[in-house]
Amino acid sequence: MKIGVPIEIKNNESRVSITPAGVFELSKSRHQVYVQTRAGLASGFSDQDYREAGAEILPDIQSVYQVAEMIVKVKEPIEEEYSLAKKGQIIFTYFHFASSQILTQAMIDSKAVCIAYETVQDEDGSLPLLTPMSEVAGRMATQQGAKYLEKPIRGKGILLGGVPGVTPGKVLVLGAGVVGIQAAKMAAGLGAHVIIFDISMKRLRYVNDIMPSHVVTAFSNEYNIRKHIKTADLIIGAVLIAGAKAPKLITKDMLKDMQPGTVMVDVAVDQGGCFETTQPTTHENPTYIVDDVVHYCVTNMPGAVPYTSTLALTNVTFPYILEIANKGWKEACASNPALAKGLSLDEGKIVCKEILKADLV
Ligand SMILES: NC(=O)c1ccc[n+]([C@@H]2O[C@H](COP(=O)([O-])OP(=O)(O)OC[C@H]3O[C@@H](n4cnc5c(N)ncnc54)[C@H](O)[C@@H]3O)[C@@H](O)[C@H]2O)c1
Repeated sequence: MKIGVPIEIKNNESRVSITPAGVFELSKSRHQVYVQTRAGLASGFSDQDYREAGAEILPDIQSVYQVAEMIVKVKEPIEEEYSLAKKGQIIFTYFHFASSQILTQAMIDSKAVCIAYETVQDEDGSLPLLTPMSEVAGRMATQQGAKYLEKPIRGKGILLGGVPGVTPGKVLVLGAGVVGIQAAKMAAGLGAHVIIFDISMKRLRYVNDIMPSHVVTAFSNEYNIRKHIKTADLIIGAVLIAGAKAPKLITKDMLKDMQPGTVMVDVAVDQGGCFETTQPTTHENPTYIVDDVVHYCVTNMPGAVPYTSTLALTNVTFPYILEIANKGWKEACASNPALAKGLSLDEGKIVCKEILKADLV
């Protein structure tokens, strides 16, 4: 199969979808990989590394889309790429269709075959292609939140871990999934008091078992959230209902109950966000203020740490890329139910029921 690796053109997105090691393996199976020049630079891979692994380097994004039967990306195509996608071309990437009507319509119009990383799902319900990026984003959420609590960047002026004689900060984590647990772990490591919320008792029991005693659990409901936001320093949004829009757990009216300079990091922004006041932001302008509350809502948090993220992502995507390349998407989906769950659009036809539910078209 002819496989294309375009450069990511979303703001501050520096990951690349296939490493030279992946190109090497694909080449061994007689597939041809076309990599756009400089696509891997920010992740530490030169054109020469790709060439030596067997790739052909192409000068621009147009030539990559032109030649490829399958495009492998990291983030969803943005407007400049809509017209490049072709009928029948496989596009394997994160799409997050439920949060963008414009993208959904553009991909329907392109008649490409869209397989979304984020809905590939194992039998046990886990999302293997979301997990490593969630691990990165969860750890970053606390790191970023701690930074924006500093006064010069309009936070409350609190050192999350405190110091001897001064109590540490209070962190609320909404959602005890992969992001939530990693965020809580980092916050606990800094010495903060952490409360982690979920609606799944199974998750809460798990957190209770594995976390140190200064991480406590709470059932996620409006009453409990309203109670704790009054004294929180950092609130991390980490909920997910697979393929659907995130529930709004913090409404605008709740902001007036928070202390000025409280920081809210909405990691779930890529699914529409779990705060009513969430607006997607970029690494260039990551924060904004609403009612004295600092909001950090970067949609591609792992993009800021491409060295770590590219390796973490490609470790898990590569087996699926190889399977699609070897068998073609129809047979690969027929023989691998986890991959079949990722199939979102088949040449203009919506296959994923969550997109239909989101009422986007
Ligand atoms: N912004 C970024 O760069 C970035 C990066 C990675 C992941 N994400 C996003 O982070 C979000 C979380 O991902 P994840 O991998 O942790 O998902 P996950 O499925 O592992 O965890 C989600 C958790 O949310 C819980 N939940 C659902 N409804 C809830 C509610 N009303 N209250 C509290 N908890 C609730 C679920 O029970 C589950 O435990 C997703 O939207 C994902 O797309 C964003």
